[in-house]
Amino acid sequence: MTKLILNRRTFIAGAGAAASAFAAPAILSAQSIWRRYPFNLGVAAGDPSPDGFVIWTRLAPEPLAEHGGMAMQPLAVTWEVASDDRFATIVARGDAVARPELGHSVHVEVAGLQPDRPYWYRFRAGGERSFDGRARTLPVAGSNLAALKFGVAGCQAYDDGYYTAYRHLAREDLAFVYHYGDYIYEYRNGTVRPGFTGGVSVAVRESVGDMLYDIADYRRRYAQIKSDPELIRAHAAHAFFHSFDDHEIANNWTQDHDGDTPPEAFRLRRAAALQAWYEHMPVRRAQMPRFGDVAMRRAIRFGDLAEIDILDTRQFRTAQPCDDGFKTRCEGMSSANASVLGAEQEAWLTANLRRDPARWNCLAQQIMMMALDRRTREEPAPIYNMDSWAAYEAPRRRLLNRMAGLNNVVVLTGDEHQNFAGLLHDDDRPVAVEFVATSISSGGDGQDLRPGSDRILANNPQLKFINDQRGYLTCEVGRDEWKTNYMVVDRVSTPGGALSKRATVSVARGTPALTVA
Ligand SMILES: [Fe+2]
Repeated sequence: MTKLILNRRTFIAGAGAAASAFAAPAILSAQSIWRRYPFNLGVAAGDPSPDGFVIWTRLAPEPLAEHGGMAMQPLAVTWEVASDDRFATIVARGDAVARPELGHSVHVEVAGLQPDRPYWYRFRAGGERSFDGRARTLPVAGSNLAALKFGVAGCQAYDDGYYTAYRHLAREDLAFVYHYGDYIYEYRNGTVRPGFTGGVSVAVRESVGDMLYDIADYRRRYAQIKSDPELIRAHAAHAFFHSFDDHEIANNWTQDHDGDTPPEAFRLRRAAALQAWYEHMPVRRAQMPRFGDVAMRRAIRFGDLAEIDILDTRQFRTAQPCDDGFKTRCEGMSSANASVLGAEQEAWLTANLRRDPARWNCLAQQIMMMALDRRTREEPAPIYNMDSWAAYEAPRRRLLNRMAGLNNVVVLTGDEHQNFAGLLHDDDRPVAVEFVATSISSGGDGQDLRPGSDRILANNPQLKFINDQRGYLTCEVGRDEWKTNYMVVDRVSTPGGALSKRATVSVARGTPALTVA
């Protein structure tokens, strides 16, 4: 076995590599082993608990170069956590190893911290120091709490627009951010593709590379996106709970299927994509892929105020009926064998909804649960989104039936690239509310109402609010009222978009009804 020799020369990024678009932001220190600054992807924290959180970074002196510009050897990294933003009082520190097997990413599960307060963290490697990040621990589970404010964000197609919403999100005072996925999109660069909103989508900026298939492809795409200064800012400001949706791998995949690809071939692409997802997300070791699968679902207790169940609506779902797409009814929609969560996850969720009650039960997931008629013009029969819960009638009915009587369920959703708020019915009775968050950038600038939205509102009395601008949600959870703020930016096609609060939609605990203000 060859002994690893970690010397100065080994870690100098390859000379003569093409100049990166991401020039080193810092002057390298005298003791530095680096030719370029290695922390270009920033830092992140995630999965906070009452006594800690994960801290993350990935060494990439040249983010777009092969291996991020790293030599293919492990490298020692140190980390520290402080109780103040000047790092005067260090409360935890340690060593970690950035390994080539994991793209030189580092995940540290920090523990032993105090509940419900902010901490600051940073890394060092080879004589250089990272940016500082900040993260809050959660309150003690079950403790009596008056309020919680958290953010909801996702769908950040790089080509579609700037991440201005993230710059604004970074300034919010939040306990954490829930990310509903589509952190990357797998599409090739520069594609003028069918727009998410109809017509064509014209690139504002260009993703690097071709369509993503192997681990190097996915790593490079993450490296580019993670280099975005506004995204870096958001991660440095808040801990995130990450999930994934479809575009972390491929459009509208479920289980081992993405349409026409043989499942055994798709499995290989899926495994590569989920490894890259793990490498770039501040998630726990429990979320490390095992034989290509990720244990993504998890439950968060926020004192006695809220239980948040993060759901996985992709890995265990049966394929979309009616060959996917936006279609009129087909027989497959009522299949008794259809599943969104899979039997095991569904049993887990049912048990969570039944146990010792929090004031609010929140399902943080990906695809829309309201069964909306999507007709935007005169057409003879209702049209449904086959990639949403609407097309999975049996499991949808089972879940809504379990929510009935709780009268404290809030469903959070992404995927649609539009804002929605509405009611979920078990038979004719409203049993829960759903807040659908728009996108950070996917779909481009948008407008208040997309053409045809008036018809969608008219055809769907359960729908109370719709908006087609980019942005994020903030949820202000009190003991008796849940308020969701729809924060939107006026544009993403050029930098510097202005933020405004488009609406606040609220629900009283015990009464599944919405007030729009
Ligand atoms: Fe998306």
